[in-house]
Amino acid sequence: MLSGKTILLGVTGGIAAYKSVEIVSRLRKQGAEVYVVMTKAATEFVTPLTFRSMSANPVYTSLFEEPKTWNIEHISLAEQVDASLIAPATANILAKMVTGISDDFLSTVLLAVRTPIFVAPAMNHAMYHHPATQKNLEILRERDIRIIGPAQGFQACGSEGDGRMSEPQDIINVLEDYFSQSRQNRYMSGKKVLVTAGGTREPIDPVRYIGNFSTGKMGYAVAQAFAEAGAQVTLVSAPSEIAVPSGVEVVSISTAEEMYTEVLRRFPEQDIVIKAAAVADYRPVVRETQKMKKSNQSVRLELVPNPDILTTLGQKKQEQFLVGFAAETQNPLDNGWEKMKRKKADILIVNDVTLPGAGFGTDTNIVTFLFADGRRRDLPQMSKLEIARQLVEEIAHLKSKTKE
Ligand code: C5P
Repeated sequence: MLSGKTILLGVTGGIAAYKSVEIVSRLRKQGAEVYVVMTKAATEFVTPLTFRSMSANPVYTSLFEEPKTWNIEHISLAEQVDASLIAPATANILAKMVTGISDDFLSTVLLAVRTPIFVAPAMNHAMYHHPATQKNLEILRERDIRIIGPAQGFQACGSEGDGRMSEPQDIINVLEDYFSQSRQNRYMSGKKVLVTAGGTREPIDPVRYIGNFSTGKMGYAVAQAFAEAGAQVTLVSAPSEIAVPSGVEVVSISTAEEMYTEVLRRFPEQDIVIKAAAVADYRPVVRETQKMKKSNQSVRLELVPNPDILTTLGQKKQEQFLVGFAAETQNPLDNGWEKMKRKKADILIVNDVTLPGAGFGTDTNIVTFLFADGRRRDLPQMSKLEIARQLVEEIAHLKSKTKE
């Protein structure tokens, strides 16, 4: 799994630094190229020479030493790596990553990498449980940094508890899992995927509309995850402030009816459709051509139902795989199962939008995947992008099973 991969190993100042020598050795045995970056404190525990010998590559310790290559090293290194692993990761490097402090080679390069970052924390258990450390880990998780461990057991300081760095093999296993999943995601290469996102706007007059609190974050994350996995992604989006993920084609719409038209037009050629948009269920019967004048009278708006796009796709589907989302405020599971059957979805993702850390506008979500075969998978709170990646994997897995 790791053969041909370039891994940046960041070593910070903890006694577990000696175990990282073994990580380098195991990574290299599997055919990975390893570049080690050490903080100054790390060099007090293990010498750069040890890592240089084990990795057969230069070891980076300072931003200002004589360059080893002609280019700006922290940037060129950041661009080369397939993944970064910080092991051991001290409370200090976690705090620096959270705040973006970049006062040495390692913290600087970590701001420049665009590929996944894994951290294996190692510290005294009281430091690990300190609210500052716990908050930092929570923020890093939300940013999609993968935290490995820590493990439990005896600590160098003589106490016992959690805070020990995970064993080198356990750390390698996490990296292997990651690369094997991204291999599975190649299932998506060449697949056509249509994603809808954002909240539709139903005009009342030229300046007013009926809308909802959807920001498009979940749908944009879904589009990004499928694009990362090699799919050809079309994003039919209601107005949203979010940057379009690279490689994704956007079709901008505003109303539910426009979304209906654009989705239905493209449906026959799609392999997978993910309906993450919050589509308005009703629209005003009349769209005034002039701005409605203010008066002291109460106003009645007559609303008519919008077409249900997902239901229509469910009726028309041939081979297409359909995923719906259901934002609920009560009985999410019962409502979810009912919707999945009625709309003929293959996966329905439910979330209780009243929970903190879930729902509209947040970077994280708490969801349950409901599958057409009756299975259910509850996911803990995680970033919307990570949920989207889990969805890619579930679909890749289901599709590869039906192919066998
Ligand atoms: O019935 P409810 O709106 O909760 O269902 C949510 C799912 O149905 C979402 O996937 C949403 O995008 C889709 N939907 C739709 N057309 C509508 C309303 C909802 O496709 N008019």
